[in-house]
Amino acid sequence: MKKFVVSTDSPYEIIIGEDIIKNVGTYIRQCIPPCRLCIITDSTVNRAYAQVVMTSLIEAGYQTSKIVFPAGEHSKNLTTYSNILESMADEGLTRSDAVIALGGGVVGDMAGFVAATYMRGISYVQLPTTYMSAIDASVGGKTGINLLCGKNLAGAFWQPSLVVCDYKTFDSLPDVKRLDGVAEAVKCAVISEASLIPKIQAWDYEYVIERCVSIKKSVVEADERDTGLRQLLNFGHTVGHGIEKLSAFSVSHGQAVAKGLIVESRAAYKMGLTEADIAAELSSLLNGLGFDLSIPYSADELYRYALMDKKISGDKISMVIPESIGKCRLQKISLSELRQFVELGLSED
Ligand SMILES: NC(=O)c1ccc[n+]([C@@H]2O[C@H](COP(=O)([O-])OP(=O)(O)OC[C@H]3O[C@@H](n4cnc5c(N)ncnc54)[C@H](O)[C@@H]3O)[C@@H](O)[C@H]2O)c1
Repeated sequence: MKKFVVSTDSPYEIIIGEDIIKNVGTYIRQCIPPCRLCIITDSTVNRAYAQVVMTSLIEAGYQTSKIVFPAGEHSKNLTTYSNILESMADEGLTRSDAVIALGGGVVGDMAGFVAATYMRGISYVQLPTTYMSAIDASVGGKTGINLLCGKNLAGAFWQPSLVVCDYKTFDSLPDVKRLDGVAEAVKCAVISEASLIPKIQAWDYEYVIERCVSIKKSVVEADERDTGLRQLLNFGHTVGHGIEKLSAFSVSHGQAVAKGLIVESRAAYKMGLTEADIAAELSSLLNGLGFDLSIPYSADELYRYALMDKKISGDKISMVIPESIGKCRLQKISLSELRQFVELGLSED
C-alpha cells in the first residue's frame, strides 16, 4: 500500500492499494470524526461496491446514507446535481457531515461539486473505481458538471479530505474503460516520465497510479488554480476534446486523448516548434496498447472546437510541446496559427 500527502491549501492524503476498499472506514476515521456520511454513487458502481463500503463505514462508527444516479456522462448535469442537493437537505445532512464519492470521474466530479456547494462546502472523500479517475479525476480538486453548452462549465475547486484508491476494483471495468486510464497514463509519461512506459505496457497499476498521481500532485501543488504549469496535463486534450464532442461522445475521453496526443505531437514537430518527432513512436505504442487512432474529422471541424479550449487567453492559446518522450514545455501560439497546427497534425504526409 502506498500513501502520499498532497500539499494544496488544505492538504490531504492519497492511499493506493489492492483490495483495500473493505477497510475504507478505518482510513476515513483518521481525517473525519464520526458523523453522517452520504455515499454518492452511480447505478453500476452501486451494484458492485456500495455494500462493502457501507459496511466498512458502519463498522468504523459512522451513520450512512446513499444517493444513486444513473451511470454515464449524460447524468453529469444540473438536474442530477439539484436532485442530490435536495435529497441531502431532505435527509437533514449538516455542515459537519460529509460526502463519499464512490465511482469513476463522473461520480467524483458530481459528488465533489455537491460537497463544494452544499451549505457552502462540506468535506468529501474520493473513492475512485476507474483507472482514469484513480490516475486523474480524483486528484487535484477540480469538481463540476456539464451544462447544455459544454462540458464542465459549472464547477469549483474543492479539495477532498482523502482519496482511497483500490485498484482491485478495476477488475470489473470493461476493456474500453481501462484504456481511458491508459491514455492518461501515457500522457503523464510523455509530459514527464518516459520510464513509465514499460510499466504501463505491463499493466502495473500500483506503480503507474503512484507515479501518475505524483506527477499530477507536483503539477497541482505548483499551480493549484490551473493558470500555468498545470496546463501541461492538457496535452492531447485540445484536439481530444473536439474528437470526443464531434463523435457525440461515442469516442470515449481516453480514446480521444490518445488521438489528440498524436495530432498535437505531429503538429508541434511540423510547425518547427520542437526538434522531437515523437508521433510515430507514440502511435506504435498506443496501437500496441489497443487504441484505434483513426480520426474521421476535418481540420476545420477540430479547429472550431479547439477555439473553445480553456487554455486560450486573448488571441493566443498555450500548447503543450514535446521536447522528447518524458519532457514537454508550454508555448503560446496565435489562434491563426492554431488552424494550421491542427491541419498539420492531422496530415500523416
Ligand atoms: N476532475 C478532474 O480533474 C477530471 C479529470 C479527468 C476526467 N474528469 C471527468 O471524469 C469523467 C470520466 O471519468 P470515467 O472515465 O471514470 O467515467 P465514468 O465515471 O462515467 O465511469 C465509466 C463507466 O464505468 C462504470 N464503472 C466505474 N467503476 C467501475 C468498476 N470498477 N467496474 C465496472 N464499472 C465501473 C461507471 O458506472 C460508468 O458507466 C468525465 O466526466 C471527465 O470530465 C475529471
